[in-house]
Order: sequence, then C-alpha cells, then structure tokens
Amino acid sequence: MDNEQITAWLRENNRTELDKLWIRADSVRKENVGDDVYLRGLLEFSNVCSRRCIYCGISADVKDCRRYSMTEDEILQSAQFAADSGYGTVVLQSGENKKLNTQMLADVITKIKAKTSLAITLSVGEWPCDIYKLWKQAGADRFLLRFETSDDKLYSKLHPDCKIGVAERYEKLEMLRDLGYEVGSGVMIGVPSQSFESLADDIIKIRELNLHMIGTGPYVPHWKTRLTENLADFLLDTENQVPANEEMAYKVMALIRILCPKINLPATTALATLNFEQGYENGLKRGCNVVMPNITPVKYRKLYNLYFGKACKKADDFEIEIKQRIKNIGRTIGAGRGDSLKFTEEVAGKV
Ligand code: 5AD
Repeated sequence: MDNEQITAWLRENNRTELDKLWIRADSVRKENVGDDVYLRGLLEFSNVCSRRCIYCGISADVKDCRRYSMTEDEILQSAQFAADSGYGTVVLQSGENKKLNTQMLADVITKIKAKTSLAITLSVGEWPCDIYKLWKQAGADRFLLRFETSDDKLYSKLHPDCKIGVAERYEKLEMLRDLGYEVGSGVMIGVPSQSFESLADDIIKIRELNLHMIGTGPYVPHWKTRLTENLADFLLDTENQVPANEEMAYKVMALIRILCPKINLPATTALATLNFEQGYENGLKRGCNVVMPNITPVKYRKLYNLYFGKACKKADDFEIEIKQRIKNIGRTIGAGRGDSLKFTEEVAGKV
C-alpha cells in the first residue's frame, strides 16, 4: 500500500468497507500470531521528566504536576505482582528524567530477573548508547520509544527541546536494535496539525523501521499543556485534520497489522480511555494481540497523568476481569513471555 491507498483508508467512512478492513486485519492477525493475547503489567514507576513535550501532562513544563518516584522495593513488589498475576512481561515506564539513577534501574532489572521469569520492557526515553547497554546487560529485553510523528517540522514543534528532529528518534531505535533489544515504537493518532497524508507517512515509516512491536494510540488533550493552550494555532481545517477518535485509532491499528503481520500490537491505554467498556475488545478484534493492564500502585497512578481522563480506575480484580473479557471474545491468554514473532524469527535467522 502506498500513501494514497493508506490515506484513502484513513478517510473511509463507509461501514461496509470498514468492516472489510477489520475482517482483513483480524484474519492477518490470526494467521500470523494466532489467538493468544499476551498481558504486560505496565508499571509507571516515576513521573519525573526533564523533557518539555508540549502534548504531555507530565512534561517538565507542567509545573503543578505532583512528582513521584517509586522506591526500589516498591518496584520489585509490583514486578512480583505482575509475575503472580501470570503476566509474562513487566513494562517499566517513566518520564525521561535526566537525573534518574541509571545504576539503580540496572540493579532493579537484575533483581527482577533473579526473582521472576518476567521479560522486562523499558520505556524511559532517550539515553546514550552506554546506558542502553548497561540496562541490556542487566537483563532488559525490550524497549519502547515512540517517534510520535514522522513529520519533521511537527516533531520539532511538539518536542521543543529536541536537537535535530525526528531523525534523532530513528537513530535511538537503530541503536536499541543493534544492542539486541526487541524494539517497539509508534505514533499518536490525531495530534493537532496531523494531516491524513502525514499519518499515512507515519504508517509507511513504521513498516520501514522493521519494528518488533508497535504501540499507537489516539492523542488525548491534557488541560495544562502548551499544546492545549495554543490549540487554535495547531489545528488544521476540518477537511485535513485527523480526528483523534476511536475509529481512527482502529483504522491505524488494522492497517499496521496488515502491513506488519508478525509484530506485537497492543490495544493501548489511550484507546481504553476513549472506550472504557469495549476499547480493548474492539482493538483485539481489529488486529491487536497484546493488552497492558496498569499495575502502578493506586496512590501513584493518578499522578501519572499523561492526558485527561487516562484510564486509571482500579477495578479491584482487573487482572481477573481482563482475562475473562479476552476469553469472552473467543481468544486465549498467552503463556510465557510473548516475544514478538518478528523478533524471534530475526534472531533465529542470525544463528
Ligand atoms: N495523548 C495521548 N498520548 C500521549 N502520550 C503522551 N501524552 C499523550 C497525550 N496527551 C503518549 C506518547 C508517549 C507515551 C508514553 O504516551 O506517545 O510516547
């Protein structure tokens, strides 16, 4: 599919045509990665951030955001909870805190590995190669780093403290791959200034980058950010502005599954925020094969406030509920780590 064809799908509003897209994505998913749905425990271990990304509610610019960092013991306890809940992976996510004790994180990784058989995914932003290497050697398996948009001008506006533009993200992704990480990236859907053609370019870029996992979700506003304060300067006219709605997110996920059949594709938290009741299920029926339940302790969870209304309710037994919901749509819970098929095939090819 080229930009024109992808754009046409993104603009498609005909129900019958869209049903064809969902069915195609679902069958590509089934043929390639099967019916298993993998669960990852998402642990937001700190909201301290040095970056000033204008869309994000935990940006350093958001002065009245109360900051927290979990202690080593708290992180270890949460990881144990993920293992006890039968999740194959714990995702350690935080703001990009330049004062992070990088050795402490390495020690935590080593301890989680010693105590559990969890795979560890990091989502902590941009770091020099030697730090990525330190964490890999400590036992980290995977890394998530979204490039957010492939439109270089927009990337620079959204990330006022970036140095050269989106190329620096691509460079980090390459670095992570070379270090042996299973690498994930993705974009925000419907961010103000994003046109249909630009989103189609993002999807093409996602395929080109040969990623192992792809996390995309709708942009959701946060009141206190510079982007919301200056919204009128960013929004394109209604003809061209990609809407940040649920259906657009499903279209993007379905297209990504069709173009990258062997990747891991989570139905993301932002999607569940737009549709708390059915967001996960709909994503899973339209190409997704991963769900990342939030395991951040409740007292911190509401402070990891990336955007307005972020799904942060603590259903008491969410780990039980989500498993039932997955079974209700005829899917099975994946056992083990749930590495990306794209990654395992690549590794096998190298031996
Ligand atoms: N809306 C949606 N997603 C957001 N993120 C950050 N802020 C927002 C927002 N306002 C996403 C970014 C980041 C991920 C951790 O959260 O894509 O990579």
